Amino acid sequence: MTKFSKIALCALIIGSSAFFTSCDDDDENPTVTPELTLYQKLGGTTKVTDPNNTSMMIEQGRLSFRSVVDSTIVLIVSDIVAGNEGNLGAHFAPLAGEVFGPTMNTTNVAVLSKNLTDFFSANTGGGATNTYSGLNMVDAHNPAVHPRMGAKATNANYDKFVGYVVVAAGKNGVTDPALVGEVGAVLESLRSPIVQDPS
Ligand code: HEM
Repeated sequence: MTKFSKIALCALIIGSSAFFTSCDDDDENPTVTPELTLYQKLGGTTKVTDPNNTSMMIEQGRLSFRSVVDSTIVLIVSDIVAGNEGNLGAHFAPLAGEVFGPTMNTTNVAVLSKNLTDFFSANTGGGATNTYSGLNMVDAHNPAVHPRMGAKATNANYDKFVGYVVVAAGKNGVTDPALVGEVGAVLESLRSPIVQDPS
């Protein structure tokens, strides 16, 4: 056996013994703690009474998302009404036109709330009980494909939207920095398909 082979064999034996040492009895049946999904961290599939309809039950994870989504929509609309700087009035013009038009039609606010809730729930671990059937993120935010999107979004618009979601999360008790960070990471992962005017 060459000197190199002996060294290699030694290294293998030492490495193996280190491996087996670490495999003590407990490791034969290791208790693997699976990482919770964001949906689970927000309440998961535990059923609770729906505060919007007390004769119905809703999964806590879905309720958490719906509450944050609805607060986000309220914040967006409030800024549009107040004419605050950086508001997303140009983007949500079709929706705002319906809500503040003569018929004060909120049908599509409810549709948007449902779509956003389905989207976030289905894509953060609640896919077994939640289904998103709306447009993909590129088409949904391309005015040429989806005229309900009044204008293409810039990075600044996107930052504004993320800010609304973070405030909305806080209003609904999602304040743990790690959890807020996780929500932020989900939002950040969607920036590229949604921001279609990178100016
Ligand atoms: C993480 C960020 C975002 C997500 C997950 C998201 C998701 C969605 C979803 C699921 C829809 C419904 C699509 C359908 O009807 O099939 C939608 C619609 C829409 N989104 Fe977004 N969006 C995000 C950010 C933004 C931003 C930054 C803007 C504007 C600057 C925006 C403006 C709109 C508008 C105007 C609509 C149409 C609303 C209507 O039906 O009247 N979104 N979005």
